[in-house]
Amino acid sequence: MNSQPTFKVQLVTWENEEPHLRSIRTRVFIIEQNVPEAMEWDEMDSLCVHVLAQDCQGNTIGTARLLPDGHIGRMAVLKTWRKKGVGSAMLQAILNEMRIRNMKQAVLHAQSSAVGFYEKFGFCKQGDEFMEAGIPHIKMARTLP
Ligand SMILES: CC(C)(COP(=O)(O)OP(=O)(O)OC[C@H]1O[C@@H](n2cnc3c(N)ncnc32)[C@H](O)[C@@H]1OP(=O)(O)O)[C@@H](O)C(=O)NCCC(=O)NCCS
Repeated sequence: MNSQPTFKVQLVTWENEEPHLRSIRTRVFIIEQNVPEAMEWDEMDSLCVHVLAQDCQGNTIGTARLLPDGHIGRMAVLKTWRKKGVGSAMLQAILNEMRIRNMKQAVLHAQSSAVGFYEKFGFCKQGDEFMEAGIPHIKMARTLP
């Protein structure tokens, strides 16, 4: 039976992994989704906990970040790796870290096309759809027991 994991997920800092984190966000948000560079990068990255997903050769395949106020963002998985559990593993890693830090509420601005993904993790829509970086979004939140 083949039970070898095909990818791994770890919590990292911007300071230690900036090139890997930048490369995945450049490919997914700036190149694939046409998000302007100026909107992609902000001063919060150095304050966030980041998730880095890598395949078994060490290639970067996904990332996400957690802001100090409980806001989850920049969730991105390479196209060829989608629907294989990478996004779930990254979100679980962030929610686990939030529990360890005794944070009580997770909030995010979901791209409207990804609402179904977050609903699987207990996030609920809040308010109306709005535009961010030219992409329809909706605020979602969940409490952490
Ligand atoms: C959204 C994203 C992070 C999901 O990552 P992923 O690795 O494909 O997700 P998973 O494979 O862990 O999917 C988990 C479950 O959610 C479902 N799912 C994944 N993407 C979905 C979507 N966009 N809408 C609805 N359901 C989705 C999967 O089918 C799977 O369902 P299952 O448990 O019934 O099999 C990924 O599609 C992505 O990076 N998209 C481009 C960037 C983006 O839009 N980011 C979101 C910013 S808010």
